[in-house]
Amino acid sequence: MATKTTQTAKPKKTATDSSPKKVKEVKSLNKKKILFVASESTPFIATGGLAEVIGSLSKALAASGKFDVRVVIPLFSDIKKEYKDKFTYLGNIYVHLAWRNQYCGIFSYEKEGVTFYFIDNEFYFKRPGCYGYYDDGERFAFFSRSVLEIMPFLNFYPDVMHCHDWQAALAAIYLKTNYCFREEYQYIRALFTIHNIEYQGQYSLDLLCDLFDIYGHYKYLVEYNNSINLMKGAIECCERFSTVSPRYAQEIKDPYFAHGLDAIIRKNEFKLRGILNGIDDIGYNCELDEHLFANFSPNDFSNKAVCKKELQKLLNLPQKPETPIISMVTRLVSHKGLDLVTNILEELLQDDVQVVILGTGDAHFEGFFSGMAKKYPDKLSANIAFNGDLSRKIYSGSDIFLMPSKSEPCGLSQMIACRYGTVPVVREAGGLYDSIKPLENGYTFTNFNAHDMLFVIREAMSDYKNKSEWAKLMYRAATTDFSWNHSAKEYEALYMDMLK
Ligand code: GLC
Repeated sequence: MATKTTQTAKPKKTATDSSPKKVKEVKSLNKKKILFVASESTPFIATGGLAEVIGSLSKALAASGKFDVRVVIPLFSDIKKEYKDKFTYLGNIYVHLAWRNQYCGIFSYEKEGVTFYFIDNEFYFKRPGCYGYYDDGERFAFFSRSVLEIMPFLNFYPDVMHCHDWQAALAAIYLKTNYCFREEYQYIRALFTIHNIEYQGQYSLDLLCDLFDIYGHYKYLVEYNNSINLMKGAIECCERFSTVSPRYAQEIKDPYFAHGLDAIIRKNEFKLRGILNGIDDIGYNCELDEHLFANFSPNDFSNKAVCKKELQKLLNLPQKPETPIISMVTRLVSHKGLDLVTNILEELLQDDVQVVILGTGDAHFEGFFSGMAKKYPDKLSANIAFNGDLSRKIYSGSDIFLMPSKSEPCGLSQMIACRYGTVPVVREAGGLYDSIKPLENGYTFTNFNAHDMLFVIREAMSDYKNKSEWAKLMYRAATTDFSWNHSAKEYEALYMDMLK
């Protein structure tokens, strides 16, 4: 079952190697050991913001020099070949899960100070995409169990095991129910981060022992509303849990946002933190980004006009420099606020405006935007696709970025748009509330109401006409600090607090 191995050649030792290496080892002894457990990470595989955070936060923590940061994800077959070919095969073990005994290959790769591990089992992970299979529960139970089982193999027992979202919830649960009684595991502390409370990992209680291998006397930890709820289990089992913005940490105590878990959140409130995500500010940099038609900087936006013109050309929109382009790069699903947009779109398109949409999602939204683009070919470009290159061309070539989410744990697109001098209009929800401040670096509206949104969009469009004021707003947006500098320190403090 093992995927083909590519052993990287070991560098030859020289006589002078030994002393610097020793120093390095001594230094790393003082570092706290952090293990991220997640289902995806950039640059290897990404379906959304989770992967970006795993890739960029791990790098930022490692760069602080205070942590030995490692990340473990499944070896999905869709992991980019350019990386897969370079992975080192470390060996394999067998992992028990109830009556199952499964092969588990372990691969590794070093990148920018972070060690990545990949769990290989072709039966579970050699499939297109990452999620959406009937046996996802079993796949991520195997993954989570493997995370604990590879620790003796690697001789790596982290100080903090930082688990992300429901796919890694069982790692925190197994630590508490099966492993913490063993000497080597007893000091591991678990932190669980909720990136989106909507996806909780819910299964029938019948699967408790047979599939998840959880003993009956621990049922109370994972049982919720008469079924297994893995997110609930992780919240109960971890030392601390967090969400990806302070505002969302408040919101999920409320039934409106909590998708049924508000009572559990409130019960465990004492261990909840909200830390705003950052973005990889080198990866998203208008001065360096090779995907852009032309590069520009916050001090000189003149080439942004080139990006706009070329974008209009690419999308078959009339090349009108004075007409504001409003863009959305989003999953086309209800909680992203698409219902507000469908409600006022035709009204908005009566104005002198161009609207650009990029994303995939629910069929009725895809159909709606495709249909409207046919009706208004000079005003609306609907791109039903997931396309990283085009997304950057849109971020850089448009003027206003719309993100009217019903709920938004953090949201990264509003930050990326800012980095490219594209001014966001957002609803005050979760991380949107924490990152976008009215007139400071964007526009906000409070109520989930289509005409409240339209009012604010029109306010932005009217301000857009005042070139000098708009340039100042673009500058403030593009220079807002969305790097990890601040938030990585907050995680650092949280880890240290857990290790007291
Ligand atoms: C999820 C959330 C999004 C957040 C991202 C990274 O995708 O929906 O708001 O930015 O995770 O934490």
